[in-house]
Amino acid sequence: MFPIIDLFAGPGGLNEGFSSVKDEAGNYAFKTLASFEMDSFACQTLRLRATYRELLRIGGDLQPYFEYISGAKTWPETLKGDFKEAYMAAKQHVYRVELGEENRPKVDEHIELQLGPEDTRGDWALIGGPPCQAYSLAGRSRRTGDENFAFDHKHFLYREYLHILGKFKPTIFVMENVKGLLSSKNGDQSMFQTILADLKRLPSGVSYEIRSLVVDAEPNDIAPNDFIIRSEDYGVPQKRHRVILLGVRSDVVHLIPRQVLNKADGPVTVRAALRGMPAVQAETSYRKPKIAQDWSAVQTAALRDIRSVESPSKLEPLKPGAKAVESYVDWISETELNEPIQHNPRAHMVSDLVRYRVMAELAQRLGKSPKYTDLPPSLHPEHRNIGKVGTPFTDRFRVQVWDTPATTVVSHISKDGHYYIHPDPRQARSFTVREAARLQSFPDNYFFEGPRTQQFHQVGNAVPPLLSKQIGELVAQMLGTLDIHKKDSEVTA
Ligand SMILES: C[S@@+](CC[C@H](N)C(=O)[O-])C[C@H]1O[C@@H](n2cnc3c(N)ncnc32)[C@H](O)[C@@H]1O
Repeated sequence: MFPIIDLFAGPGGLNEGFSSVKDEAGNYAFKTLASFEMDSFACQTLRLRATYRELLRIGGDLQPYFEYISGAKTWPETLKGDFKEAYMAAKQHVYRVELGEENRPKVDEHIELQLGPEDTRGDWALIGGPPCQAYSLAGRSRRTGDENFAFDHKHFLYREYLHILGKFKPTIFVMENVKGLLSSKNGDQSMFQTILADLKRLPSGVSYEIRSLVVDAEPNDIAPNDFIIRSEDYGVPQKRHRVILLGVRSDVVHLIPRQVLNKADGPVTVRAALRGMPAVQAETSYRKPKIAQDWSAVQTAALRDIRSVESPSKLEPLKPGAKAVESYVDWISETELNEPIQHNPRAHMVSDLVRYRVMAELAQRLGKSPKYTDLPPSLHPEHRNIGKVGTPFTDRFRVQVWDTPATTVVSHISKDGHYYIHPDPRQARSFTVREAARLQSFPDNYFFEGPRTQQFHQVGNAVPPLLSKQIGELVAQMLGTLDIHKKDSEVTA
């Protein structure tokens, strides 16, 4: 088993994919030695998932796990026997800490302990991505003109990643970030170029060849855009585009051939992703309305108004990839659960329920999400900006349509559901945590700890596990090739 260390681990999406990779003999290819994360709910999620994996590994009783995640048993009732033992073992590998210069000694010490003395270490991989808020396009537009931006320590958290590369010299690393990193600037300097330049002058002189996982080209011929991975091309039912760098330590580069991910045979659509999810209705939350409205009458009138709407150029639905859908279903399915977990919709104001209903109806007619301005005026809220051309509010509501992959699930999904309206008008609601998790390709037995907003936050932050599994498979092959070379050279010597 190749050890991995996961930085800024979030709820463990990246880790989940790597952890599921098996070698030809059916043994797990990776073992997570340490996950570092500062958020306490994400750490709980990581510990629970690591416990599940530990139980799988030792062939322990999984029943308590399923009882806990389906709500049949409380935590104290669960923490017993095999489960408790597995939990205690798993807990050692999840480290709650704020990565940063101040905590480097603690973090280094923990890694040292987990990896063992330098001369006994074999090949291992560092995975993870420095957090994205400072780089993300949305984050940046809110920070325009903010002089403190350049000094925001969050902007430089990638240095923690580089510090570990320099000090512990993993054989391979996988670094994930938002696409906005490519265009992000600090003053006149491109953040992406700064990171690449810093990668070339790591402490201790160690260096890496940076490869793309999707474009097979010599390092000098790789353009920044070649690092963008479009998740929907790899069987994930979501248009999530991320920058992912693969680093191979220079001393072994000649032994590890370049490899890229294989594209899926077609998309996995929202329809395929939500198959089998029971229809559920949202409760109404109450906020004293500014103007008293008979929402039922507004809805009836609005549905009548849009009856004649037809898209002039209704697109043919995309043809899903048969193999991709099969692999996806296989990956997420869990037969031990009688019903989906974490599938209770959040409550919405009655006015939003009506908007969702009408927008979902419109989406069905148009074959795409309507713009907010397509709604009958009776459904426009009181925001004065809404409806004016160019205001961001016009895009604040979005229906996720059935026959295409979803748009990116981001952590903002924890704030409101306007951007993730269910395509079924009869359900008139936003996605549940489980539906968002499906779009992110989390297996159905993956449980997110914490209150619902925190669960959404974790889901939106993650690397889709089904994508990371494919990356993990490549990394396992690369490390495996290296192993064979090393064994051969031992024999020759
Ligand atoms: C984009 S998410 C990582 C997602 C993860 N790779 C996955 O696939 O699930 C970034 C994570 O970094 C964490 N984080 C942010 N700043 C941190 C810091 N200074 N130290 C430790 N964790 C941090 C956040 O709490 C968040 O969970």
